[in-house]
Amino acid sequence: MIKDLFIRKTLAELEEQADSKHNGLKRHLSALNLTLLGIGCIIGAGIFVLTGTAAALHAGPGIALSFVISAFGCLLAGLCYAEFASMIPVSGSAYTYGYATMGEFIAWIIGWDLILEYLFGSATVAVGWSGYVTSFFADFGLVIPPSMCQSPFIFDHTGWSLSGSIINFPAIFIIAIMTTLLVIGIKESAKFNNIIVMVKVVVILLFIGFGISHIDIANWSPFIPENTGSFGHFGWSGVLTGAAVVFFAYIGFDAVSTTSQEAINPKRDVPIGILVSLLVCTILYIAVSLVLTGIVNYKDLNVPAPIALAINNAGTSLIWLRPIIKIGAIAGLSSVVLVLLLGQSRVFFTMASDGLLWKSFAKTHSKFKTPHITTIVTGGVAAFFAGLFPIGLLGELVSIGTLLAFIIVCVGILILRKSEPDAPRAFKTPWVPFVPILGALVCFAQMAALPRDTWFRLFGWMAIGFVIYFFYGRKHSHARQRRKDKRE
Ligand code: ALA
Repeated sequence: MIKDLFIRKTLAELEEQADSKHNGLKRHLSALNLTLLGIGCIIGAGIFVLTGTAAALHAGPGIALSFVISAFGCLLAGLCYAEFASMIPVSGSAYTYGYATMGEFIAWIIGWDLILEYLFGSATVAVGWSGYVTSFFADFGLVIPPSMCQSPFIFDHTGWSLSGSIINFPAIFIIAIMTTLLVIGIKESAKFNNIIVMVKVVVILLFIGFGISHIDIANWSPFIPENTGSFGHFGWSGVLTGAAVVFFAYIGFDAVSTTSQEAINPKRDVPIGILVSLLVCTILYIAVSLVLTGIVNYKDLNVPAPIALAINNAGTSLIWLRPIIKIGAIAGLSSVVLVLLLGQSRVFFTMASDGLLWKSFAKTHSKFKTPHITTIVTGGVAAFFAGLFPIGLLGELVSIGTLLAFIIVCVGILILRKSEPDAPRAFKTPWVPFVPILGALVCFAQMAALPRDTWFRLFGWMAIGFVIYFFYGRKHSHARQRRKDKRE
């Protein structure tokens, strides 16, 4: 009975599942599409919203180092993701990898945990989108009433209160649009994403290019402000806490691995998509944070739109860039919402194909060839959370959930090397076991830096997942059924 909980799917079964004739999904995505999907999902609220706060409260100009540290943890996890992706070309990301290495129960835990990353992630970024859109309209004198564009609930780690607002309507609106696009088609969604990625990368390059000449190097001194006496407030501990905060900015490179079944050559291209998108974004982030803290003193950066503030500070010569930056941020955040919703619907789709969730989640639309039911359910639930809850609360849940998934993937590589040492891999994680062990440790250190109530919420979420697994998933699991048939 206990052994049954850890029933695994073989690589042969996964290969069969990857064959698109069996699942109705279409193979449309090239290596470039996958890389752009990664960038589409990575660059968003993290760089456009959180960088300023992290610099002002934790790291000062040393935030550039926080980005390096956080990227290091992601790179280690990314190398492990890439090996899995090159062996197991099935949608479902870490969930599928867990099924192949650690068995059904752990796979379920990962799948359930990934909801925190993708579904709650899309809700978080939609709230950030709402903030930028509201401020963009306000620049032109169009004021959206606060009762319609803010979360009705406020949370500050000590308790809840009411903001007086009714609903965050723009956040719901962007999720509705992106859900519709995803239902219409993966090719259309990828095309939309490619255009948006161009826009946001150009906007970031414009900021770096034009901002450089406005840097006042006095703002970089001291580069790491002296610690104030408490952990995480400047000094090296501040740089580390800053790394945990800006981790959110890197979330998304792993979303590439949820679309393996729609990739033309998944074994080669998914690892490329994961690693190249991570590398490009790391370089951009370090450059942006240096320019940002060079133009504005870090003490002034605790604002919702730090990059727009830097443009203001650079004087009248850059004023033309201000609306462009906001448009870039709005476009950029839209594509993050899109790719996170895409990732979630593909994880649900794969879990339902395995019998662990309701059958209708694995249905594809006869004309659009997309998993329309799961996409609409995902969008509906994401819209509910985006419409009601504040960005900070959602963001921390996303970070803790993602870090847990990264740890499990790192551990999974150690197991895979033992259980399937000779299976062909188009990509091999270098320096095993050093890379996966260090990856798991770096991710755990960042989890440990998150507040205690976020940990409680993670446990609560997992408890709900256990109930669903034991009352539904376990009874309907196809792998379990196959094993039973074999025995009879
Ligand atoms: N990395 C994504 C963002 O920063 C989730 O919005």
